[in-house]
Amino acid sequence: MTAGNNPSVYIKGVGSYVPEKILTNQDLSKVVDTSDEWIVTRTGIKERRVCENGQECSDIAVAAGRKAIESAGLHPSDIDAIIVGTITPDMIFPSTACMVQKKLGLENIPCTDVQAACTGFLYVLDMARGMLLTNHRYNNILIIGAEKLSSIIDWSDRSTCVLFGDGAGAAVIARTPAGATYGVNDIYLGADGSNPELLNIPAGGSSLTASEATLAQGQHFLKMNGKEVFKFASRVIVQASEEILNANNLSMDDVDIIIPHQANIRIIENASKAMKVPMDKFFINLDRYGNTSAASVPVAMDEAVSSGLIQAGHHVLLVAFGAGLTWGSALVKWH
Ligand code: ACO
Repeated sequence: MTAGNNPSVYIKGVGSYVPEKILTNQDLSKVVDTSDEWIVTRTGIKERRVCENGQECSDIAVAAGRKAIESAGLHPSDIDAIIVGTITPDMIFPSTACMVQKKLGLENIPCTDVQAACTGFLYVLDMARGMLLTNHRYNNILIIGAEKLSSIIDWSDRSTCVLFGDGAGAAVIARTPAGATYGVNDIYLGADGSNPELLNIPAGGSSLTASEATLAQGQHFLKMNGKEVFKFASRVIVQASEEILNANNLSMDDVDIIIPHQANIRIIENASKAMKVPMDKFFINLDRYGNTSAASVPVAMDEAVSSGLIQAGHHVLLVAFGAGLTWGSALVKWH
């Protein structure tokens, strides 16, 4: 990589956790009018993980966070701040990051959530980078993408319930040591709030407070205009990838591996065709987990590292899109 060759922060450790409970397409076909064949053909998803009763979003976030801290060679007490990207917080407030702090036995450090849906991990990565570069109090920031999407799914709606799963991915972000050339080279983020109804939960916020009527109408569940979101996703995954490569005078040939948001194999196939990049450059695990929103990119990144697909010196492109609508990409040179 030529441009951005003075990365200021790096991903010091990664970790992920998915609940043990597996929900297969076969299982879902007993609940709604669907089939393994339809789901695999239209999405590429074969199974997903779901939390057990009583397993909270912060529990899986902590499990992923502990692994990231360990892989960074640190102890929880080394963490100076926690940022969690999630659309399924334990409660509306306090933040899930505060719950993670409590469960890690930490005190006093700043903790907050960020809500950018499936782009959440890229948003929290950029925020951690900004904090590390502007405030000397921070040395190791724990960032987590964690989702218990099973809690906001309408399990009688076949158009959405087959798509999503639960999981958590985490990373420890630190300043790059002097002279090192590895790290986060660039991050590009965007949002378009003009059509919030394309993907949302209509009720339960302050605009449409929860009531018997909203419950009866299922307005506390995730609603999605699948076709429009599909079109947006297929366009923006290309745009966000090209934008960050062009800004850094790079081409896809400079990238060793792409970690895309794991929503639908057809979106990734469309991107592969549009950018003329072979499918084997994209890391895929959506067949096993479905769309885990903010957890999707960090879980995939962790699996790519642990399976040896990401190695020291590799140039990694992270790219995501989601509700908001939001999108983002990041260029990372691995250490
Ligand atoms: N099983 C069987 N049939 C189904 C199912 C199902 N699970 N779901 C829908 N169908 C039917 C529909 O009712 C429709 O039937 P009809 O023609 O009789 O009306 C038919 O299948 C085709 O439906 P489409 O909506 O046209 O199916 P499509 O090929 O567009 O796939 C899908 C739908 C998979 C939802 C797709 O639109 C998609 O992936 N959208 C993007 C989702 C996404 O990426 N979200 C990312 C952001 S998520 C976040 O940020 C939280």
